[in-house]
This record gives sequence, structure tokens and C-alpha cells, in this order.
Amino acid sequence: VKLNLTDYEIEARSVLPSHVYDFIAGGSCDQVTVQECCLAFSRWRFVPRILRGHKNISTATTILGHPISLPVLVAPWAAQKLCHPAGEIATARAAKKAGTIFTLATPSTVHMEDVAAEADHWWFQLYIFRDRGFTRDLVLRAAAAGASALVVTVDMPVFGRREADERNRFALPSEMSLVHFPPKEHFGLPDTGSAVAISTNSLIDPGIAWADLEWLASLSPLPIVVKGVLHADDARQAVDVGARALIVSNHGGRQLDSAITSLDALPKVVEAIDGRAEVLVDGGVRRGSDVLKALALGARAVMVGRPIAWGLAVNGEDGVLHVLSILREELQRDLHLSGCSSPAVLDRTLLTPALSAPTSVARWY
Ligand SMILES: Cc1cc2nc3c(=O)[nH]c(=O)nc-3n(C[C@H](O)[C@H](O)[C@H](O)COP(=O)(O)O)c2cc1C
Repeated sequence: VKLNLTDYEIEARSVLPSHVYDFIAGGSCDQVTVQECCLAFSRWRFVPRILRGHKNISTATTILGHPISLPVLVAPWAAQKLCHPAGEIATARAAKKAGTIFTLATPSTVHMEDVAAEADHWWFQLYIFRDRGFTRDLVLRAAAAGASALVVTVDMPVFGRREADERNRFALPSEMSLVHFPPKEHFGLPDTGSAVAISTNSLIDPGIAWADLEWLASLSPLPIVVKGVLHADDARQAVDVGARALIVSNHGGRQLDSAITSLDALPKVVEAIDGRAEVLVDGGVRRGSDVLKALALGARAVMVGRPIAWGLAVNGEDGVLHVLSILREELQRDLHLSGCSSPAVLDRTLLTPALSAPTSVARWY
């Protein structure tokens, strides 16, 4: 039986080829940030309230005006056919059943129009390519296909150094392709290193700047969500340029190693934005209590990446739905145990810094 998200990771590890598991689970360099992302949640404690008389607890909220039944969105993550033949289609269907938003990554293995046919509310995540015409066409295509927001990922001017992928000489299987990447010369497998890193670096613009965000804001019919914000000044500037929401994120520890954890970065960003945009956070969310802590620190919702991959690898659409259901039940129970009836009533008074915290992530096996 799988009771929690760690159970899913353990089973996914046993069913996936080890180089695929490494690609998904891994981070950059020494993986300090990957590990810290989960530990950051354990540095906060709840101070629950009692005798509040709540019988019905709601996990519902809204994002950019759209109602969702769970403040947990599906983060954009690449090449989902690595985990299951139905790939992004299965994940989009599960998100729809769970009443939440699916974010389709630019490096997806399914065309956005095919995802749109299965999804309810979905966002499109954009990488800014060197080829600006191609980039613009992707934005307009996503709007025409029915995406309701454009998530611009800004923390990847260059691919983080994922050493496991280099050792494994990680590449997509030849029958799989990233259908929204610009056409490129087929340069086969490099002699060394990660093919994914090499081809991504050849296509993505290493010099992205604020002017590019302004350009996107001027051409995009969709609201812009900026993903990969960690500094309060950048948060302010992103909103000034037109972002309607921000995702506080370090890309799951896959880019700059030793970057601050997103949970630790969250309070200053929330303070700097002061309600001018919605703030989301991702990285290391593995329990309903993690969601509760993020919301109490001012996030409107969280995103989850790897746990969705584990659900998809273990049991396709049903696995993803179960992962989201586990988070929903945990969040609902923890709201109840905290004396809170819904996300809307949460604030910092629910939390206090831990006097001592674990130095490694608990694994119940
Ligand atoms: C395998 C994998 C692929 C990812 N691909 C993308 C991507 O294409 N675009 C993007 O913005 N973020 C991507 N991310 C980052 C996620 O959106 C998210 O920030 C991160 O996974 C959150 O951390 P978590 O996995 O601990 O939940 C990827 C993450 C993983 C694990």
C-alpha cells in the first residue's frame, strides 16, 4: 500500500530505468538545494488553535480568479512519456479530476492541442529561445489552444550541472521528442555529457533580460506568471513589468546549487509584493503539512513536480490522481487539526520557528 508520497517515490524508483530516475530525482552539483528544499519545511512548527467548532473543512481557493479545489498545482516538468506512454495527457486528466491546474512544460512530449482536449484549466510554461519568432509563435499558439496563463521560467539562462545525467550520458530515447522545441540539426549523441543539457543550451537564450519579459507582456494575450523568483527586488520588478503571479522557485534544486530554498525565500517576496500579485511556491512539498506551512507564510498555492512524476511512473493517470488525493486528505486533516476551516483564514500566527530540526529527511522505510 502507498500511504504517502515517499511510498510513491520508492515504488517509482523500482519501476523506472535508473537513468530516468536519476534525471527526475536529481539536482545540480552537490544537490545541497534539493535536500534543503525538503528540510526547510521541517524548520517550522505549528501552534494550533483549539475548540474552533469546525465540522467542514475546505481546501478550495482561487488562482488568478479561477476556482480550484486544492491549492496544489501541477508544476511544469519535461518529457513525461519517460514515465508513462500517455505522458502529459495522463497528468492533465488527473489534474482535471483533482480540480486543479495542469502546467504544460515547453519540453513536453505531447502537443499542446492534444493536452488541451483533455485538460480543464491549464497553463503553458515557456522557455525563451534564441529564436524569438519561434518563441512568439509558441505563445500565440498556447493562447489559441486555450491555455489560461503563460508561465515564463527565468531561472535557466544555462542548464544547471546535473552530474548524474552527465555520468549516465542522459538522452531521450530516439522514439521520443520534445514537440515544442525548435527544429534543430540532429547532432546525435555527444561523446560525453548529457545530451539533454547540450541540446537545451544550444536552443535556449543565455542572455534573457527584463526587456524580454516586457516584450512577452506586450505580445501575450495571457496573464504572465514568472517562475524562478527568489529575490524580493526581482519580485517587485517582475510585478512592475506586468506579472500577475510569481512562482518562488529554485527549479527543484536543478539549477544553481546552494540557492536559497524557496520556502526560506517566500516571506520576503510576499512582503515585497504586498498583495499586488499572487505568490506561489514550489520545491520539496511532500506532505499536506508542507502545503499548510507554505500557505501560512503567504503563498496562495504550491506546485509539485517530482511527486507527480512518481505517481505517473507507478500508475499513470490513477497514480497522479492518488498523489494529489493524498495531499488533499493530508491538507484537510492538518487544517482541521490546526483549528482552521480553509486556506483563506491562514496566516503567520499558525507558525513558529522550530527550536531544533532534523538534519536529514525522514524516510519511513
Ligand atoms: C524532471 C523535471 C523536469 C523539469 N522540467 C521543467 C521545465 O521544463 N520547466 C520548468 O519551468 N520547470 C521544470 N522543472 C521544475 C519544476 O517545475 C519545479 O520547479 C520543481 O520540480 C519543484 O520541485 P519538486 O520537484 O520538489 O516539487 C522540472 C523538474 C523536474 C523534476
